[in-house]
Amino acid sequence: MPLALVGGTGLDTLPGDWQPLTADTPFGSVNAFSGLLGGRDTIFLPRHGPEHALPPHRINYRANALALQLLGCDRVLALTAVGGIDPALAPGTLCLPTQFLDFTVSRDRTLFEPPEYAPVHMDLTEPYCPELRQSLQAAAAQLSLPPLPEVVYVCTEGPRFETPAEIRMFAQLGGQVVGMTGGPEVGFAREAGLCYAGLSVVTNFAAGLRPQPLTVTEMTDLMDGLRGSLLELLATTAGSLADPNPCTCGKPA
Ligand code: HPA
Repeated sequence: MPLALVGGTGLDTLPGDWQPLTADTPFGSVNAFSGLLGGRDTIFLPRHGPEHALPPHRINYRANALALQLLGCDRVLALTAVGGIDPALAPGTLCLPTQFLDFTVSRDRTLFEPPEYAPVHMDLTEPYCPELRQSLQAAAAQLSLPPLPEVVYVCTEGPRFETPAEIRMFAQLGGQVVGMTGGPEVGFAREAGLCYAGLSVVTNFAAGLRPQPLTVTEMTDLMDGLRGSLLELLATTAGSLADPNPCTCGKPA
């Protein structure tokens, strides 16, 4: 079964031979690409679109999750650019979310809407796939990268950045990194029966941790610098995954 790679800010396109395809879902059609990552069949879905035209609150997260399911994927690696709330998480750090706090306000919440479906309440005690997380850590070790810190991801609505007061509040609540895309997407993946792991790239210190204002340019510049090692980590991870997928976290009883 193909792996899915969801691209975020700074990874809207991939080098190599990627064939465009479209998947039609009840929530709309989704454009993605098919190709090889680390020798493994992979569907690449840049969530902001290849031209980065979609802001975080306009992404059709439900269609994306269903499209990956319809395309036969059972595992998802999802990249997110984040600000570091924890001052120990400097720009350039790659981290693995283990929990999230969802502060989004205007997004869809479920794939299972009435009247077609009765309410569905997924368990998210372990929101991110333990197997995929372990594979990412093992690939990082194989590439002599430092262990990927495990973090609590805060998802804001955006598209504006946070105020320093919001960042102080998130820090008090245990948030360690902040982004705008890695919230409801996790729940949709679980509803679609997909193993899902996030890989977050700290592109900046969160608002107020430094006196300078935040700019998108500093974030994309940082992503450009990290692109090579990030792709190496993703390819090594993709190439190392066990077949068939030994994990059932996306399909709880
Ligand atoms: N806040 C929200 N989203 C982000 C940030 C941030 O500081 N950096 C990259 N994406």
